[in-house]
Amino acid sequence: MANKVTRCTLQEVHGIPLLEPIVQHWEKVEAFQAFPEDLLIVTYPKAGTTWTQEIVDLILHGGDAEMVRRAPTSTRMPFLEFSSPIASLPGITQLEKMDPPRVIKSHLPIQLLPKSFWESGSKVIYVARNPKDTLVSYFHFDRMNMIQPEPGPWSGYQKKFMEGQLGWGSWYEHVKGYWKEKDKRNIHYLFFEDMKENPAREIQRIAKFLGHRLSEDILNNIVQLTTFDAMRENPMANYSSVPGNIFDRKASDFLRKGEVGDWKNHLSPEENAAFEKHYVETMSDCEIPFRFVI
Ligand code: PPS
Repeated sequence: MANKVTRCTLQEVHGIPLLEPIVQHWEKVEAFQAFPEDLLIVTYPKAGTTWTQEIVDLILHGGDAEMVRRAPTSTRMPFLEFSSPIASLPGITQLEKMDPPRVIKSHLPIQLLPKSFWESGSKVIYVARNPKDTLVSYFHFDRMNMIQPEPGPWSGYQKKFMEGQLGWGSWYEHVKGYWKEKDKRNIHYLFFEDMKENPAREIQRIAKFLGHRLSEDILNNIVQLTTFDAMRENPMANYSSVPGNIFDRKASDFLRKGEVGDWKNHLSPEENAAFEKHYVETMSDCEIPFRFVI
């Protein structure tokens, strides 16, 4: 019989709220052994992780669509820290069964990443998305994902986001943490808005970071295979393998809108003003060129 799905609570690890099952096996996450050939794709939740994973897998396989359809995203590129009573295998267990080079997903803030990533010199891709669209996307995700904590009403959700009370903590500290380290470490920092504006340019940049040169044909093919519409139709990239008792698709799709600026349909003028004021104060020590429209 399938395990009953109940929403997780959050517990803190070094001051960062994480889903309780992740905290339960935190020692294993901390001790994870990364290899130099591994590639880490790390983001604050809802920044465009899945999109970037699909792009990377296609680059690594020379644009071979069939190869990239070999398994769902979470099997091809396991989610490092993830564990849940109803998921078949924790990310760590999946990764331990794989030989390097592995492509690994994580949402951990920089101070919580296992030290072995830095010691081994693994390449790291960090994807950032403007906070208003991230907030909106996270809200709908928490509505549909029955293992995430209960989001509650929209009004209170914005406050929780601004105060860093959602899973994986403060968006503000997350994006700043990787930004401040990007030139000292092997980190390619990219933006969701740039990928929307010019996917070919951003895909070529990712390829260069990974040491690949893409022909015009392969590049165009990857652009087409990773549009929002193409990924939404692709069962290996759209999380359709997650059962309906975990992802309530009546509440929202995983690939929901994929736009820049959907926040305008959610934040009232008053909410937007409060968000802006807090954003300016919180980000004043670190100028990151976020765009809220393109
Ligand atoms: S997760 O759960 O944190 O791994 O989610 P993540 O993949 O980071 O983010 C999900 C949002 O990314 C959008 N998405 C895309 N947008 C544009 N083009 C493509 N190809 C694409 N793939 C995923 C997805 O729709 C979520 O954003 P919203 O705004 O909710 O639609």
